[in-house]
Order: sequence, then C-alpha cells, then structure tokens
Amino acid sequence: MNIGNEAQFQIYQMRLTGQYRGETLCISVEDWVARAREVLSEEAFWYLAGASGRGETMRANEEAFAKWRIVPRVFRDVSDRDMSTELFGERLPYPVLLAPIGVQSILHADGEVAAARGAAKLGLPYVVSSASTAPLETIADEAPGAELWFQLYWSKDREVAQSFVRRAESAGCKALVVTLDTPMMAWRERDLERAYLPFLLGEGLGNYLSDPAFRAKLRRPPEEDLAGAILLWTQIFGHPGLTWDDFDWLRQTTDLPLLLKGILHPDDAEEAFRRGADGVIVSNHGGRQVDGAVASLDALVAVRERVGPDKVVLMDGGIRRGSDIVKAIALGANAVLVGRLYAYGLAVDGEHGVETVLRYLLADLDLTMALSGHRSLVTLDASVLARA
Ligand SMILES: Cc1cc2nc3c(=O)[nH]c(=O)nc-3n(C[C@H](O)[C@H](O)[C@H](O)COP(=O)(O)O)c2cc1C
Repeated sequence: MNIGNEAQFQIYQMRLTGQYRGETLCISVEDWVARAREVLSEEAFWYLAGASGRGETMRANEEAFAKWRIVPRVFRDVSDRDMSTELFGERLPYPVLLAPIGVQSILHADGEVAAARGAAKLGLPYVVSSASTAPLETIADEAPGAELWFQLYWSKDREVAQSFVRRAESAGCKALVVTLDTPMMAWRERDLERAYLPFLLGEGLGNYLSDPAFRAKLRRPPEEDLAGAILLWTQIFGHPGLTWDDFDWLRQTTDLPLLLKGILHPDDAEEAFRRGADGVIVSNHGGRQVDGAVASLDALVAVRERVGPDKVVLMDGGIRRGSDIVKAIALGANAVLVGRLYAYGLAVDGEHGVETVLRYLLADLDLTMALSGHRSLVTLDASVLARA
C-alpha cells in the first residue's frame, strides 16, 4: 500500500481497535509544537523554535510556499506512486533528508541516536551536525542502517576541520555538507533573553571532545577539565575569515560529494559549481542567521534558473507539510531537508516521535501528489503551479 493510504488507515483504525481514547493526536506541525512546548524546558523550546531578530525570515520561509498554488490534474492513473529520487548515484525512497540540527541532547535524552534511528526506519538520510552531542562514530554505531551525511562547521583550526572530514569518511558518511551561513551566531533574541547557549554548558560538543586534533590542543583532557575544552571550543568555532580559496583546499582533501549549505545568491551558487562543489543547499538556516534574508523558496527559484537543470540543488526552510515538498520540487529542488519539524517529533517521543512525524509528512506528500495527478517526481515542474 502507498504510504499515504497506509498511514491514514492505521490512524482511523485506532478507533476500531480501542487504541484511540478521545485525545487529539499529534498530526499537524502545530500539534507537535504544542506537545514539544509541554515537555521541553523554556530554554530548550526556544532554542529550537526561536529565530534571529524579529523572526521575519523564519516566517517568510513558510509564507513563501503560500505564494504558489498547485493545479491538480485529472484522469491520470495514480494507483501506484514512486517518490524516489537519485542523489550522487544512490536512490533515495523519498526526496527528503533530515537537516543537520545541533545539540539534540537538549530535546531528548537519546538525542541524535534516536533521530538517526527514526530516519533509518523510513530510509531517509540523516545529516549529522558538527555540533551533535553524540559523536559521529557513536551515531554510526548505534543507528546501524542509517544513511549518514556529515555537516561541517569549519573550525578556525584547519587541523580540526581536516580531522572532522577524515572522520566523516571513516564513519561511512555518504556526503559532506559545508555550512557557510554560520561563521558566527546571529543575534538570537530568545536565547539572549535567557543567557542560554548550550555549548557553554557542555552540550553539543561531542565531535570536538572526541576529536584527536582538538584534544591534542588541550593541556588536560576534557574528562578532567571540561571548562578548558569549552574555552578552546569558543576560540575555534566559526571562521569569519573563510574565502573561496579555502574551499579549493577542502575540495582537494576529499572525494566525498561536497555540498555547500547556506547559499542564497545565484552568483554564489554558480561559483560553487565552478569551484567543484557537487551540490548546493539553498538555506537561510531556518531564519536563525540573517533576519530579513530572502525566503529559501524564493532563492531556490533564482538559483535553479541560474545553474540550469542538471546540478544538484537541495533546499530547506519552512517545510511543514507535503504540499510544501511538492512546490519545492516543482520549483527545481532535487530534494528538501526538514529541520524543526523532526526535532519537535524528537522532543515529544524520541525515535518513535521522529519516525511518526516524518511518516505523516511523507503520507501527506504521497496523498498530495496522487490527488494532484502525479505518481512520480518526474512530472513535477513549474507547470504544476500557479501564482497565488
Ligand atoms: C535548533 C536548530 C539547530 C540547528 N543546528 C544546525 C547545525 O548544527 N548545522 C547546520 O548546518 N544547520 C543547523 N540548523 C539549520 C537546519 O539545518 C536547517 O537549515 C533549518 O532548520 C531548516 O529550516 P526549518 O527548521 O524551517 O525546516 C539548525 C536549526 C535549528 C532549528
């Protein structure tokens, strides 16, 4: 059975089997947010739900989808749907990845391991953040079967950056995502209000504390002197001095597919491919960096137009429902990354929450495609949409 029909059937069946007891089930993103708010501390909730500045870009990301409407087609056989897509020689069952989100230990005790396991249940790639609390190797060991990518925060210290790349290769990561929009953190009002930066409390440092190049720079190991390790982290995190020439160096050091994340300008996308990037991720970090930045979906249109049909262009920002994915694919994305949505699922119910929230997203995608007259991603192009 297609995932959409199956998920609907399972939910409605709960009433017949007595599993449903009159509560409102977590179905919509609004339901998941409300539950997450109940279970998380204020500071953890706002670290996740907050943005930079007045939150204009975070809102714009979602609003950009409402500027487009799907124009459904009829009399097309949509009995069997196939939402698979190919990325870097691998076939993915759905055009969806889990975006890198740091410090998942503040959301759930099992943090990144739970999220990667939830992703694996659906065959979705999980992008491990440099700022994960569990080290990459622990996630790889404890979530066997998960397809992992690694997201690199490029340290000021080149040896640490290089060591992270080597570790991603050894752990079997399928691609490397280099995030370029966070050479420093933006003015995040919600976190500043609570003087809350989890890294300073020792969360989200798993990859650093376990890294041989990082440890070699410490006078005493982090197990004996965590404060010293946190201090070193504050000194090397982020690299505002990076330029395209540094990218040339990185390109030479690895054969992994390299994607640049945080691309919004068509000129930067063009330069990325000219310099040998394998893909770009159109993203404004979910509105957590430049408040007032262009919405991801709007930037996607301009980037795709510039780089042509053959380059790998992914996008994230504001994906909350199946129709958002249909629109992003129709406007030129090869696949999308989901950020906060799965993190709310993680907060509410760990691995099971991640699996459930993503299953419902894919179910919604499947049903939206079918009801719009599409049984594969191939027929999704701009002709499917009208301006609202
Ligand atoms: C709490 C939080 C932590 C994040 N941490 C990272 C990170 O470590 N590395 C990174 O590249 N992006 C990070 N991001 C950005 C996401 O990868 C992604 O770009 C964004 O969440 C997409 O927008 P959405 O939340 O609307 O789906 C983070 C986002 C959130 C909400």
